[in-house]
Amino acid sequence: PLAATGELVGGAAAARSAVVAFNIITLEHVEAVVAGAEAAGTPVVLQVSENAVKFRYGRLLPLARAAAAAAERAAVPVGLHLDHVQSDDLLRQAVEAGFSSVMYDASRLPYAENLAATRAAAEWAHAQGLWIEAELGEVGGKDGRPPLDAHAPGARTDPGEAHAFVTDSGVDGLAVAIGNTHAMTERTAALDHDLLKRLAGALDVPLVLHGSSGVPDGELAAAVAGGVAKVNVGTALNMAMTRAIRDFLATHPEAVDSRKYLGVGREAMAREAARLIEVIGTPRTA
Ligand code: G3H
Ligand code: ZN
Repeated sequence: PLAATGELVGGAAAARSAVVAFNIITLEHVEAVVAGAEAAGTPVVLQVSENAVKFRYGRLLPLARAAAAAAERAAVPVGLHLDHVQSDDLLRQAVEAGFSSVMYDASRLPYAENLAATRAAAEWAHAQGLWIEAELGEVGGKDGRPPLDAHAPGARTDPGEAHAFVTDSGVDGLAVAIGNTHAMTERTAALDHDLLKRLAGALDVPLVLHGSSGVPDGELAAAVAGGVAKVNVGTALNMAMTRAIRDFLATHPEAVDSRKYLGVGREAMAREAARLIEVIGTPRTA
């Protein structure tokens, strides 16, 4: 069934676990993530980024409607989240499109402007009953820019600043920069676990890890144990899909029915989604 993202994240945080939020681009992504979560038997979040909306000819509603329909029929709770929103126009479409949460991303702006824009977004979101996440520090590799191999320490989230930012903006969750980078195709990110510990100690809202595709399994599990309650995954599913389709087409040059290759791509994404949920989303007691 459809669930509120805020409740899924809050429940995961209380269990010292994390809910995985997968970026969806096509209907195959939607179906694969739901199938993967059903196989793992855990809640999941389907998230649509502003960049995905741009790919869908600028229209949010068709993909959002498909995601909502899949969520309503799912055997596990599914939250719908609008991801990396920079446009106020898109932000204001969240409720009509059926989302229970948004990530408002003004992290490209200097601190004072990020805070002012995020506070205004949080006031609006709360008036609509939405859970809102923001970002402080900069998780690089967004907007098609090349991913950074080593995250610049200067871009990392400062615990004292983060405490002030959360208090003054009123956001419900915070995306932190702790050595994670978007769009990595190798799982080589080394997270700063000491910084994560200090951030978890300084903040009383759930922490969100972006750019999780580049983070090795053990580091992901350690991040969850260290206080991350929402883990965003995008590139890993695209890699699984693309590899499977590339292999299939290479060995089946006669194939023309799109169901044949989209089907193997969907299966590969579902397997990877279930695998990541097992690594990330299994409740831990320690
Ligand atoms: O908000 C989306 C995530 O941060 C996805 O990042 O594509 O590097 O896994 P990723
Ligand atoms: Zn992200």
